[in-house]
Amino acid sequence: MKKHTYIESEALLERALKVIPLGTQTFSKSFEQFPRHYSPLFIKKGKGCKVWDQDDNEYIDLISGLLPVILGYCDPDVNNAIKQQLELGISFSLASELEVIVAEKLVKNIPCAESVRFGKNGSDATSACIRLARAITGKDHVICCGYHGWHDWYIGSTVRNKGVPTSINELTHKVPYNDIESIFQLFKKYPDNIAAVILEPANSIPPKEGFLHNLKDFVKSKNALFIFDEVITGFRFSKGGAQEYFDVTPDLSAFGKAMGNGMPISAVVGKEEYMEEMEEVFFSATFGGETLSLAAANAVIDKIEKEPVIEKIWERGGALKTGVKKLLASNQLEEIIEINGYEPWTMLMFKDHSNGTLKEAIKTFFMKHMINNGVLIAASHNLNYAHNDEDINNILNVYEKVLSNMAVALDDNTLVKNLDCPLIQPVFSVR
Ligand SMILES: Cc1ncc(COP(=O)(O)O)c(C=O)c1O
Repeated sequence: MKKHTYIESEALLERALKVIPLGTQTFSKSFEQFPRHYSPLFIKKGKGCKVWDQDDNEYIDLISGLLPVILGYCDPDVNNAIKQQLELGISFSLASELEVIVAEKLVKNIPCAESVRFGKNGSDATSACIRLARAITGKDHVICCGYHGWHDWYIGSTVRNKGVPTSINELTHKVPYNDIESIFQLFKKYPDNIAAVILEPANSIPPKEGFLHNLKDFVKSKNALFIFDEVITGFRFSKGGAQEYFDVTPDLSAFGKAMGNGMPISAVVGKEEYMEEMEEVFFSATFGGETLSLAAANAVIDKIEKEPVIEKIWERGGALKTGVKKLLASNQLEEIIEINGYEPWTMLMFKDHSNGTLKEAIKTFFMKHMINNGVLIAASHNLNYAHNDEDINNILNVYEKVLSNMAVALDDNTLVKNLDCPLIQPVFSVR
């Protein structure tokens, strides 16, 4: 394979930085999150599971646009639906039938969904859930677990909380996944003032036996709302999200990412008795009913209903997970790289090596060499329906090469010396 060069990417970054802070709209897509000078910085086009960067280098993409791309880039059914709607108009002066059609499909598929409102980003949906919970309960504090977007109520609880008033930070309490004891303690500390517990139903680790069911019972017993953030798990774990997969129905739920295959659309769904409060709570935006995204969501849901989209993503994600596990074992790298998570979205966790090599160096080495061998990856496997068996094999072949080189570099203690780029630092630790 031709060695990748990033001349056009670098030149475009220089231009971008003059007019765009960080050169991008998304922290996770910024140059700081990729091995500098050894990775593309801009994508020109995508098709299926492949993308081409600014220098026309080709990759199998394991980022899938940070998970919205569930069917693959330029899926013909989604593109046709968007084109047809484009001929009719994008944003109207009143609501359109598409809002009703897509809402009906969400109600049909998602266990807790009796009623629906649309937004554009996942953050719109999670924030709407929180405002709704506060309005319904008359309480202020919130317990959360995972990542829930860029808005004040959540980001105030992280280390990236510049610009968020302290009075807001104090209302949100982050707890680790599976730690029901911390949640009991918070309810003791703020009796009668916790409006909701919101969590990603699953991310890197599985729920302990009974965790989700017990938590739901406890939260309900305290007259608080139980909310699932399904922005990632929705239309990825199953048609009805992780709530269907785990058979636990929350009061409210936020969906986003995969429902539009890359078009900006999200949804708050929930039980009628809670959603009816939306008639009073202010959740309203010019583009809430924008039709191209709704047309895309309509086509995505149809395809997920008709074709084995989710089954294939589980199957191929499983093959990838098993293959990576074997390679980590055969290269004796299990001590420093763990693969976690469920098949449709597995994650790599890097740890410091006993020879002193930092986990950030190991991750930077890993990304640099995967990317240079044609696999665009951060630290997770964000599979989509377009990744076929051959792609999985190709990815595993690249893994084989990169992990064996890594094992040698760690043995020789030359990994850092030969890295030749700054270490990637996380935006903040979420999961
Ligand atoms: C679980 C979860 N919730 C909420 C969000 C926020 O979504 P958005 O970035 O579309 O606002 C994200 C984004 O990554 C997410 O992963």
